[in-house]
Amino acid sequence: MSADSAPPPAMDGLTISDAVPEAEFSKRVLIKSILGRPDKGAGLNGQKVRIGGWVKTGREAEKGTLAFLQVNDGSSPENLQVLVKSDVYKVSDVVATGTCVHIEGLLQRPPETATQQKIELQVSNVISVGTVDAAKYPLPKSKARLPLELLRDVVHLRPRTNIISAIARIRNALAYATHTFFQNHGFLYIHTPIITTSDCEGAGEMFQVTTLINDVEKLEKELKETPPPSEADLKDAELAVKEKGEAVAQLKAAKASKKEISDAVSELTKAKENFSKLDERCKLAERFRLHGGIPKKDGKIDYTEDFFARQAFLTVSGQLQVETYACALSSVYTFGPTFRAENSHTSRHLAEFWMVEPEIAFADIQDDMNCAEAYVRFLCQWLLDNCYDDMEFMTKHVDKSALERLKMVAGSKFEKITYTKAVEILEEAAKVKKFENKVEWGIDLASEHERYLTEEKFKAPVIVYNYPKEIKAFYMKVNEDNKTVAAMDVLVPKVGELIGGSQREENYDVLRQRILDLDLPLEPYQWYLDLRRYGTVEHSGFGLGFERMILFATGVENIRDVIPFPRYPGRADL
Ligand code: 4AD
Ligand code: MG
Repeated sequence: MSADSAPPPAMDGLTISDAVPEAEFSKRVLIKSILGRPDKGAGLNGQKVRIGGWVKTGREAEKGTLAFLQVNDGSSPENLQVLVKSDVYKVSDVVATGTCVHIEGLLQRPPETATQQKIELQVSNVISVGTVDAAKYPLPKSKARLPLELLRDVVHLRPRTNIISAIARIRNALAYATHTFFQNHGFLYIHTPIITTSDCEGAGEMFQVTTLINDVEKLEKELKETPPPSEADLKDAELAVKEKGEAVAQLKAAKASKKEISDAVSELTKAKENFSKLDERCKLAERFRLHGGIPKKDGKIDYTEDFFARQAFLTVSGQLQVETYACALSSVYTFGPTFRAENSHTSRHLAEFWMVEPEIAFADIQDDMNCAEAYVRFLCQWLLDNCYDDMEFMTKHVDKSALERLKMVAGSKFEKITYTKAVEILEEAAKVKKFENKVEWGIDLASEHERYLTEEKFKAPVIVYNYPKEIKAFYMKVNEDNKTVAAMDVLVPKVGELIGGSQREENYDVLRQRILDLDLPLEPYQWYLDLRRYGTVEHSGFGLGFERMILFATGVENIRDVIPFPRYPGRADL
């Protein structure tokens, strides 16, 4: 019920506070508003409600005269027990798992023997039923669970499972918490572009956006339907132009009448038009024959003929663009999908994932780390405060330590160590422990190293900062030692790297030289250099991998199961 609408009239024997609020914009009440109460719904005994949801499990009882259904509408992990009598509806039509029911009836206390439920729904009217052919329904009919891996083959039906719906609610809560955190701290939400012409990480892992290939397919189809003219046709057309030209010349020489000359000129024009049309088609067919229809110039693909008249890509990060707003509006953040065409088959990588990227002016690496820590701890506390039932579910069914981990992170300060210190710790550990990757100053820490630091050494989140400049992106602030950059990674148990960030190089000359040193072209970064040319400012930011945060919170093993529609090498369903 919205704050400004009138309270519903009290129903027989009920005070208003006992009434179940109607779901807004939908003709039912949420199951959460029944079962999510401290009394688990017991106080609603005798109240008439209308609910809608999908049958989790159903069974016929008392010789087919009664059906018991467990109904879930996604508002909560809990199911409402529903009783349908055969004089109200054909019970065999509602018991199949997956059936959708829109029903109304009386809430009543179950008999003492049924101890699990505090309230159940005795159906008096069925508004609609979406039936299921039980033999064909791809999800299990009983309480049996399909492994998450198999659920990926039914990505359109998997939200009906307890685990995927719990993850969806946790994901939603984390998104809400993200906006709440940054809005509470005065950050502006900026929408950065998804299509970009600059490579933020300079790693060349971008998906290209082009219509050149669609154009080829269109051309191929068109050439098939209307074949190009033959060489003889073209010659004839060329000859026709020559003949008509000569005819005009002759008429002019013979001082023929104006009408005769203008008629001949118009014939010539027509012949010329015909020739150039045929010629153009011959050239297209030739281009198709030579290099598959892709326009080329000086042996290279001619992107000036592409949709944006230049090469374009899906963004790997909104950072560079969001910096333009940080350098005008101070504290900003972007939160959107990002794309990486890296051929990673790990349980921590997706080709399409969401990133939260704050960018703060007048802030150095210390401010950046403090912001990252406060944000991650806020997210953990938010789940404890707002998603406890779903977190309990994850703890029971997925990862025994999930709730404990959230409490630990929400309540403890993060460890902060330099990269140099991290390498020292790892070198010490390597004396007794076998790492697959060699440890020495200068390496990019491997996942096994990151996880050792956070899971074994500190058993808590760790922020590693001041990395060797050789292994980090061009935009990071070069430290005074000229060997390291003011970069930081937040490492957490279960996941490893959750956040990557840095102070940005705000010195024009140093930044320009870094771009050149890394063999990147200057031209695409001129606008980025402008931010240092005009009113430069010390600033910092970071990117949190949103799905990695969900992995960390829930304890789910594979990142493909915490995004509604996972995209990874070889797979992009729906
Ligand atoms: O460390 P990364 O590459 O940093 C950036 O992109 C910076 N431009 C962010 C910034 O400073 N504004 O990526 C940031 C985070 C990683 O720490 C990781 O959590 C996540 O994004 N990430 C991925 N998550 C899923 N799949 C992938 N392929 C990922 N690559 C990075
Ligand atoms: Mg990184």
